[in-house]
Amino acid sequence: MTKKNQTLEAELKQLREEIRYHDERYYLHSDPEISDFEYDQLMNRLKAIEAEHPQLITPDSPTQRVSGRPAEGFVEYRHRRPMLSLDNTYSMDDLREWDKRVRKGVGLEQVEYVTELKIDGLSISAIYEKNRLTRGVTRGDGVVGDDVTQNIRTIRSLPLRIREEAFQQPTGTKKEKPPLAQPSLFGNPETGESLKKSGKTPDPSHQSAIPEPDEIEVRGEVYLPNESFRKINEARAEQGLQLFANPRNAASGTMKLLDSKTVAERQLDLFCYDLLFDGRKPFASHWQALEWLVNAGFRVNDARALCDSIDEVVQYCETWGEKRDALGYEIDGVVVKVNKVALQDELGSTSKAPRWAVAYKYPARQATTKLLGITVQVGRIGTLTPVAELEPVFLAGTTVSRASLHNDEQIKRLGVKIGDYVLVEKSGEIIPQVVKVVESKRTGRERELQDFVMPKDCPACGEPVVRQPGEVAWRCVNATCPAKIKAGLKQFASRPAMRIEGLGESLIEQLTSNRLIDGQTLPPLVRDFADLYHLSERRDEFLALERMGAKSVDNLLEQIEASKQNDFHRLLFGLGIRHVGERTAKILAGNFASIDELMNASQSQLSSIFEIGSVVAAAIVEWFNESRNRDLIARLKEAGVNLKAATGAKSGAAASRKLEGKQFVLTGKLPTLSRDEARQMIESAGGRVTSSVTKKTNFVVVGEEAGSKLDKAKELGITLLDEESLLEMLA
Ligand code: IVH
Repeated sequence: MTKKNQTLEAELKQLREEIRYHDERYYLHSDPEISDFEYDQLMNRLKAIEAEHPQLITPDSPTQRVSGRPAEGFVEYRHRRPMLSLDNTYSMDDLREWDKRVRKGVGLEQVEYVTELKIDGLSISAIYEKNRLTRGVTRGDGVVGDDVTQNIRTIRSLPLRIREEAFQQPTGTKKEKPPLAQPSLFGNPETGESLKKSGKTPDPSHQSAIPEPDEIEVRGEVYLPNESFRKINEARAEQGLQLFANPRNAASGTMKLLDSKTVAERQLDLFCYDLLFDGRKPFASHWQALEWLVNAGFRVNDARALCDSIDEVVQYCETWGEKRDALGYEIDGVVVKVNKVALQDELGSTSKAPRWAVAYKYPARQATTKLLGITVQVGRIGTLTPVAELEPVFLAGTTVSRASLHNDEQIKRLGVKIGDYVLVEKSGEIIPQVVKVVESKRTGRERELQDFVMPKDCPACGEPVVRQPGEVAWRCVNATCPAKIKAGLKQFASRPAMRIEGLGESLIEQLTSNRLIDGQTLPPLVRDFADLYHLSERRDEFLALERMGAKSVDNLLEQIEASKQNDFHRLLFGLGIRHVGERTAKILAGNFASIDELMNASQSQLSSIFEIGSVVAAAIVEWFNESRNRDLIARLKEAGVNLKAATGAKSGAAASRKLEGKQFVLTGKLPTLSRDEARQMIESAGGRVTSSVTKKTNFVVVGEEAGSKLDKAKELGITLLDEESLLEMLA
């Protein structure tokens, strides 16, 4: 063997080991250490060497199989057709090269492509037999996956049954191409614009029946919306659990849970992108398959587009690259697919990926940088949060120099020391996070690196900090701590709350600081939210603050005045009650007509509202029990701030009264909902759940192993519902 071959073999060995290690971290532990981009670079290097020296390829090389492995604890299931991966491209030039290869491959000047957002989650296959969802399987290694049927049944948008009408729809649509109208060429994933633009409104004259197959397989990407991800991590931080680095890890970690009740709470969602009837593609084009999915009741991402040329594909990639932050879920690129199935067949696939599709990946949202120090921030409820001060690094369009470390438990878990190199990730619309220490960058002189120690006193007010039993966070409990007041005001003035635009961080700082006037120290102008509404009476003092002009003062006073009329939910969110985020604030405003009603609600009354858990209910009661907070509400009321829900909002836990006056009985084990959940959902829609079946019962909800109640219901001729029909009724 030549010396050159020996060094090459050594490099190959190292590359393969490294890739295997990262495969395990990614697929098995949902805990990757490097970015996709860095991973692809390793893989591309390996592929390049192997392509030049095919004699050095070993059967166990990571290039020889579709990566990923089934997790333990689930029954394995072999896919009827392998679930392939996609080749990645990172530049428009690569994308254009791919297009050239495609056109050359099929010998055509022009090829039509479908572009879709590449959702950053995990792929699953949902199998329907006789139009009923019978199995859900993860991709696994592409050949064999895990049977996660119970878990995918918790995904509300995934139909448990395919509608009959799905087989009665226009098939041969004449024109597939949407008009090239700008600027909304690529549709809107919220409104479904692209569908309307596609010029394919069902035309009854084209109605023809589609033969019903025995088995339908729908493939798609399970993901966690950013908001759910944020909530899960918030709860995990409070419990001192390891945080998920991004929504994708959270989604795949969730799918691996054996307890489907927890899975249901996590609120996974799904976008479908592929369809097989008895193992074969049923339509002549991918676009038609997507349309069938939509008509059959599946959730398909509306941002899809039909493109006539690679220029349009490039434009689609650029458009969504700019708009990706507004989606509410993470995408990591665009998937480009040849539309016509005949051409797909002609191009074929390698063992790993199809030649007729490719992923264009957006730049990584992870980067490696040095941890220069750790400072401590005090939040609005006094929580001390360690913040990583980083060597500035450019990441997804901005320079990142700070990242959250959440709490000292997280620091211990990460094993991070000041001076370490760390992997930072910006994801899920949350502030950047330190994901892990880059161990390979350690020098072996770690003793020189410093450990972080949580301060014993609040860095803002100097009072001792406390840690409540059972809590992970250290808190400053001084009600007058200036850091807490400032953080609270910042949230109060923020856009989703009272939207007082001019009230930024530096002005808050001025308004909440002591004032030195003529050698005299005067207390701050603002000490709580209600003080804001008295600033107009103190305009002169306001004007006397440094750098204040009459125009900006009056502007701000106007905004403060206008905020009095804001919707009730904005004020509720602005108050900063623990666990009451934007969504919960809206739920509360939909259920209580006024702050007085809410203030007097008991914990059990609150937690009987669907989607308000006992922890949130307890936090609300605790907040209103504080006399300081009650005083604050009284002062806000006095100032004329709106503390009532809009007319038409329901009073007293009556968000939606669809089932008003209806009596339900539950019997047997429901597939996904616990009895308690079903009861809560019925009750929050105004219905009643009773324990025995009588003539007054309107519906009996029947699950598996239903007992005598079912017999009684049949005897009395009462309408029977399964879980699915109940959910439809509530939708
Ligand atoms: S098509 C043979 N479409 O990306 C075609 N994949 O990197 C295979 N993904 O394993 C998939 N969004 O988990 C397709 N609109 C989309 C997608 C998508 C996300 C994921 C999927 C796949 C991975 C490949």
